[in-house]
Amino acid sequence: MRRLCVAIDGPAGAGKGTVARGLAARLGYLLLDTGALYRTVALAASRVGLGWGDAEGIAALATQLAEQERIVLPGVKRPETQRAGGMQVLLDGEDVSDAIRTPEISVGASRVSAIPAVRQALLAMQRQAGASGGVVLEGRDIGTVVFPDAEVKFFLTAPAEVRARRRYDELAARGVGVSFEDTLTDVVERDRADSERAVAPLRQAEDAIVIDSANRAPEEIVEEMVRVVEARA
Ligand code: C5P
Repeated sequence: MRRLCVAIDGPAGAGKGTVARGLAARLGYLLLDTGALYRTVALAASRVGLGWGDAEGIAALATQLAEQERIVLPGVKRPETQRAGGMQVLLDGEDVSDAIRTPEISVGASRVSAIPAVRQALLAMQRQAGASGGVVLEGRDIGTVVFPDAEVKFFLTAPAEVRARRRYDELAARGVGVSFEDTLTDVVERDRADSERAVAPLRQAEDAIVIDSANRAPEEIVEEMVRVVEARA
């Protein structure tokens, strides 16, 4: 069987992370959570005191982070290190896996991801990870920009309230104090920003298989995806 490149795109809280992890495990594929890269750029920017509006400063920082290989995702090479809360990420050798998953950094990631030079800086890392196939990449523009020729493309979605409820439960479980209303506003605003930005906006690739994750168990969605991948491998 061929080892394919599988793209999973969709809005925040659609369940991409859980499903992508399950699918990669079932197939014995590598996994790349591309949102973690944008989140790490946002974290690095906030740590050096750059405001989200400082496009030039953030672009220069992202270029440096990529060129100097300061962002490392050990789980891409060693999928067994992947964790339930999202992919393990190192910034300058420090484990920032939890630090990148706060509401503030979610907003920051959305802001920095609209800067063309940031997307450009992270593109090579993503293409390199997926170049030999046998990989599941999840994000917003995998099937449209990063791997427009991916053999299998899924677009995972769900109504905003369902997605916000998941995000809220996830944050609450980790002890991050937020209200459901704020989480919903955040999700809706992030979707709008991600869909309306000029470069690589969130949109469904024409050849993507759309899956609505509301009222469905992740395991069931993974099984559906496995059948599609195996039929094309
Ligand atoms: O998927 P996650 O919520 O971790 O992504 C954080 C943010 O990073 C998204 O809101 C989006 O703005 C950005 N992103 C992106 N392109 C990707 C993955 C994430 O623009 N491929």
